[in-house]
Amino acid sequence: MPKTRRIDEFVELLRGFTPETLTSGSVLEICQDTDLDDASLARYVHWNDALYTRNLIYRDDLFEIMAVCWQKGQKTVLHTHNGQLGWMMVNRGIAEVTNFKWQGCNAPEGQNQGGLDCVAGATEIRLSREHVETCGRGGQVNAIDRERTIHQVAVVGDEPVVSVHIYSRPIDSCVAFDLEAPRCYRRQLRYYSKFGDVVMTPADVQSLTAPGRSPAPPRQS
Ligand SMILES: [Fe+2]
Repeated sequence: MPKTRRIDEFVELLRGFTPETLTSGSVLEICQDTDLDDASLARYVHWNDALYTRNLIYRDDLFEIMAVCWQKGQKTVLHTHNGQLGWMMVNRGIAEVTNFKWQGCNAPEGQNQGGLDCVAGATEIRLSREHVETCGRGGQVNAIDRERTIHQVAVVGDEPVVSVHIYSRPIDSCVAFDLEAPRCYRRQLRYYSKFGDVVMTPADVQSLTAPGRSPAPPRQS
């Protein structure tokens, strides 16, 4: 049986890792052995009808930990975590992760840049659809690593979803894919709240979700 842990206890466990000891498997083990206490997460749970919210819980050079709150029908765009390790634990509701694999594009040299996973900018992109993972409380912990990098996350059913995401290392932008265009592009990632306090203004939300906002649908990655 997983242990019930408050989010601050969970963060402390992760803070015990160093770049040398951190592996995908070692963090996965802790996630699978943890049932996060709802009350300790409450201050990081914020809802918005126009977008799913990314709520920062903790960040240092090695880890970024956030709660993501999704309402019915909300989903990410198709995006990549190229070069990152990550883990997603669903605390409430059901989320579905559809995995994709990069099979080629017409700007692969964009991946050979110092300091960035890819500069994006391809207009021909081949992705293969891989397996779908269904994640709920006490069930599957979704992991991303050097091989599993591209996915789309969506709410399943009517119940809102609260999920806790751990990333190593933190990122402030990622490459997203618009397969209809087709094109890939770099998009900035924004927090809705930090350490419990909402930082995104209604005007921010409006600009992020304005109709015709190019080039992706009005959702954050
Ligand atoms: Fe993701």
